[in-house]
Amino acid sequence: MTDIEEVDFEVDPEDLDNSPVVRVPSDELSLLVNDLHVSYRVFGAKKVGHGPGRKQGPLAKLLRRGGRAPAIREVKAIRGISFAARHGEAIGIIGVNGSGKSTLLRAIAGLIPPASGTVHVASNPALLGVNAVLMKDLSGERNIMIGALALGLTPKQVQERYQEIVDFAEIGDFVNLPMKSYSSGMGGRLRFAISASAVPDILMIDEALATGDAGFRAKSKARMDEIRQAAGTVFLVSHSLATIQSMCTRVLWVHDGQLVMDGEPKEVCARYKTFVQEKKKRAKTLH
Ligand SMILES: Nc1ncnc2c1ncn2[C@@H]1O[C@H](COP(=O)(O)OP(=O)(O)OP(=O)(O)O)[C@@H](O)[C@H]1O
Ligand SMILES: [Mg+2]
Repeated sequence: MTDIEEVDFEVDPEDLDNSPVVRVPSDELSLLVNDLHVSYRVFGAKKVGHGPGRKQGPLAKLLRRGGRAPAIREVKAIRGISFAARHGEAIGIIGVNGSGKSTLLRAIAGLIPPASGTVHVASNPALLGVNAVLMKDLSGERNIMIGALALGLTPKQVQERYQEIVDFAEIGDFVNLPMKSYSSGMGGRLRFAISASAVPDILMIDEALATGDAGFRAKSKARMDEIRQAAGTVFLVSHSLATIQSMCTRVLWVHDGQLVMDGEPKEVCARYKTFVQEKKKRAKTLH
């Protein structure tokens, strides 16, 4: 189920902004996650993934179709994660596909209720998953309006910053077209530009940078630094270890819904890289 091919840890020197990640010292907690569990309920699901499924003959299948309630499967996406985040931290989240990174961000943003455990946020909940607000059928312009208002900007502030957002996203006249006509790079850049237009207490970026080029990444890093200096905390999910290392002060490695490691970017990325390479090797010898 996990696609380890997607992991991109080649460190291309051109992709790296070599300036060190600025540390913003702060003792104050911005976020506390305590023994968080998150589950999804999938209706009408067949058993997949973990454990061997029960083989069924055609007759049993036919009988099952005859009016029994659809199966409900519970996917335990986050299984007991705890950590504390401080103001000024840029926290990278890494892990193979399906390990629970996006779910963790969504739960922190309050978009999915936890099955158990708690998420405490220090100040106003100006958190927003960058993927949560944008609507594909609406133009970039409408999305900027709605997204920025949702982030807590006043209509006047949105007007003042509108051009800045369009320029940051580098989408030009496409701003008047529906977002479904955008390339993934353009969509990603606009998402980042909107989410970074306010100075949120917690900025969460899920893969949005993966689609940007080196120039855009440098700009994004500068914006992230500004937010951290204004006492914000930044979360960044990415499959590019180069991006994570050049932008984060700390890294969480999530696997199978649990926290495997929490520490220095270099150390955590190195351990993760070894893990993925060994997994790849094992997969090859099995074929
Ligand atoms: N809406 C959903 N309904 C049911 N199951 C889901 C849903 N979203 C995610 N899952 C499941 O929860 C688990 C964690 O998924 P999640 O999207 O958080 O992983 P991820 O680490 O972000 O993966 P990727 O690197 O592919 O983005 C996976 O097993 C996935 O299949
Ligand atoms: Mg994800």
